Formats: sequence, C-alpha cells, structure tokens
Amino acid sequence: MVKREIKIKSANLTYRVVIEAGVLSGLGRAMRQLFPSTKTFLVSDTTVYKLYGEKVKQSLAGGGWQVSVALIKPGERAKSLKNAARLYDQAIREGLDRYSPLIALGGGVVGDLTGFVAATYLRGVPLVMIPTTLLAQVDSSVGGKVAVNHTCGKNLIGSIYPPRIVIIDPETLKTLPERQLKAGLAEVLKYGIIADSNFFAWLEVNLVELLKFNIALLSDAIMVSVMNKARVVEADEFEKDFRRILNFGHTIGHALEAATDYRYYLHGEAVLSGMLAAVKLSLKLNGISFEDAGRIEKLIRQIGLKKAPEDLTPEAVIDKLRQDKKRLAGEIFFVMPDKVGSVSLKALKDQQLLHDVVNYILNE
Ligand SMILES: NC(=O)c1ccc[n+]([C@@H]2O[C@H](COP(=O)([O-])OP(=O)(O)OC[C@H]3O[C@@H](n4cnc5c(N)ncnc54)[C@H](O)[C@@H]3O)[C@@H](O)[C@H]2O)c1
Ligand SMILES: [Zn+2]
Repeated sequence: MVKREIKIKSANLTYRVVIEAGVLSGLGRAMRQLFPSTKTFLVSDTTVYKLYGEKVKQSLAGGGWQVSVALIKPGERAKSLKNAARLYDQAIREGLDRYSPLIALGGGVVGDLTGFVAATYLRGVPLVMIPTTLLAQVDSSVGGKVAVNHTCGKNLIGSIYPPRIVIIDPETLKTLPERQLKAGLAEVLKYGIIADSNFFAWLEVNLVELLKFNIALLSDAIMVSVMNKARVVEADEFEKDFRRILNFGHTIGHALEAATDYRYYLHGEAVLSGMLAAVKLSLKLNGISFEDAGRIEKLIRQIGLKKAPEDLTPEAVIDKLRQDKKRLAGEIFFVMPDKVGSVSLKALKDQQLLHDVVNYILNE
C-alpha cells in the first residue's frame, strides 16, 4: 500500500497528514525529525493502549524518546476538565517543557482531550495526532478543533489548535468494532454529499467493500475525506461561515444525541439519521431532484440506520433543536443538498414540516 501525504494550511502553520499502512512502526524516527526534544507524553485510552500501546512505545524508544504514558477510560465521559487537570498534573510532575510533544493515540475522545491539554499546557505544546477510529481519521484529527465537555453540554470548553502532524495507520481499523466503522462511514459519506460528487459516485461502487473492512479501499476513502475536510477548513478555519457545511446532518443529529443523553446513538449513527432528515427537507425546500435524493438515501440505508428508541418523541428532539438555536441566538439553519456534491444553508421556518420530517426518521 502506498504512502499518502496531505498538507493542510492553518493560520500559523502548515501540517501534514500522513496515511500509510504500518506507519506506526516508524513513528519514533518521524518525530525525531520534527521535534528537538527527547521527552514526549503519550495519552491513550485503555482499549487502544492494549492494542497498540506497546508498538508505539517501542517505536518511540527506537527514535530515542523518553515516554510518559497517561491512560483514560474509553468513552465520552472521559473528555472532562477533571481528566485535563490530571494530565496537567502529570505533565508538570514529569517535567515536560514546551518543546515536548503530546501524542494522542486513540479515537476522537482521546484526540479532543489531548488536543485541549496541548493547547493550554504552558500556553501550547506541540500536538501529534494518531487517530485510530475511522471517525477520528476522517474528521476529528483534522481541522484543529479541541475540546472537553461540561456537565451542561458537549464540547463547551475548547479551542482551535491544529496538530503539528497527523499520522494515520489504516491497519488500526482492523480491530475497530463494526458499529464504530459504520459511524465513521457516515462522516465519509457526508463529504461525498456536501462537496465531492466524484467521491460520492466512487462510494456507490465501493461502499459494500468498505463495510467489509477492506483496508486498501478504506485508505483511499480516508485520503479523499481528509482532502475534502482540508479544503473546507483551509477556506474557513475559524468557522465564520463556509465551514458550517460540515454540519450537514448534524443539526438533527446533535438533537437526537442530546435527547437520548448521549447514551443511545454513536455520533455517526445520529448524523446518518440527521442526513436523511436533511435530504427529506431538501426535497421540499431546496429543489434536490428525486433521483439525487434517492441516490443519497440508498447509501445512507446501506450503511444502516439505527432504529430510534420507542419512547423518543418528535417533540423531545425538536426541543433540543430549539435549545441549540438559543445558544446560537438565531433561527434554525439546515445544510441541505441541492444535488449530489453541493449544499446550501437554509433557514427553516415551517414548523409542521420539521415535525413531519423528525417524525419520519424516528419511525424508520
Ligand atoms: N474535534 C473535532 O473536530 C471532532 C469532530 C468529530 C467528533 N469529535 C469528537 O470525537 C468524539 C468521538 O470520537 P470517536 O467516534 O473516535 O469515539 P471514541 O474516541 O470514543 O472511540 C470509540 C471507541 O472505539 C475504541 N477504539 C478506538 N480505536 C480503536 C481501534 N483501532 N480498535 C478497537 N477499538 C478502538 C475506543 O476505545 C472507544 O471505545 C466525540 O467526543 C466527538 O465530540 C470531534
Ligand atoms: Zn460529526
């Protein structure tokens, strides 16, 4: 399998995303070329560390690195200020200075938490992202958003802090649970719908194989997804406007997650339902053709919609949507496809239509 590199320009630096099967074994050497320090701080969760920790540590030792390790429990609850404080304590205790890179080895939870600590410890230390879920490889490790959760909501405390390098080994996906793979594929599909009709057509041919964990094809999908995300983020790093197209499927997706206390849906599962809802809205409000809506719906269903909980009502979901709206101090905006590969942002005023569409996806 070939090595791919994508360069991403951010306000203050340009960083590389390296995608290569087996790349983890060369990590120590690659980092040696990038950073003058000899100390590094590796953060992971216990599941990922059991699978890849030894390999990564060995590679780092081979590159002459002295490694401190901190582990968190797997799961969204670990993305907390309390864990950030634990990591600061350990970093100080072990004498990490501002040249010592922090390494995030894991999914989006590890990436967001470690990134947040890297952004704030000593006013910022170098960050190395090694994403190991498909979602983290195609989405959270690129673009620089870092955050922890507050008891009042997800990602309420955070910053934009780009990594110095992102290292993706697609082979790590071999151990990923199927449910997590599908959740990541939801975000992959999103890029095809919002920005890349050729990629969408490629997904129509290859989705079945991707769902079977075909690593070579997954590598291709990761590369194109990252390129698409890079293009959007480079144009609007600080989310003034254009970057909002990445929220396709996320308006209702977030409301579904919130209405079920973040315990029922994986993020990608909720986004998949949210994308279907946005396509249905588009048929009424944005003039997408039945043909294109059908093509999108087919791939959504191929990944597989998660059934909503029996007792979840449209009112409860719309309530969460409104709370989000209050935070954003404005109307409810939806990213809606006009056709495959292109979207617009539209305000939604028709409350009955919103109710009908939410009701529709809850009964799927
Ligand atoms: N910063 C951003 O731009 C951004 C974008 C999207 C999502 N996020 C955040 O990402 C988080 C979700 O990330 P996620 O979906 O990666 O979840 P996650 O980090 O919770 O990982 C999912 C599960 O998979 C396990 N796992 C990870 N890699 C594995 C592997 N290779 N083999 C076996 N198991 C593995 C983990 O231990 C965990 O149990 C959320 O907190 C979300 O807010 C951030
Ligand atoms: Zn998402």
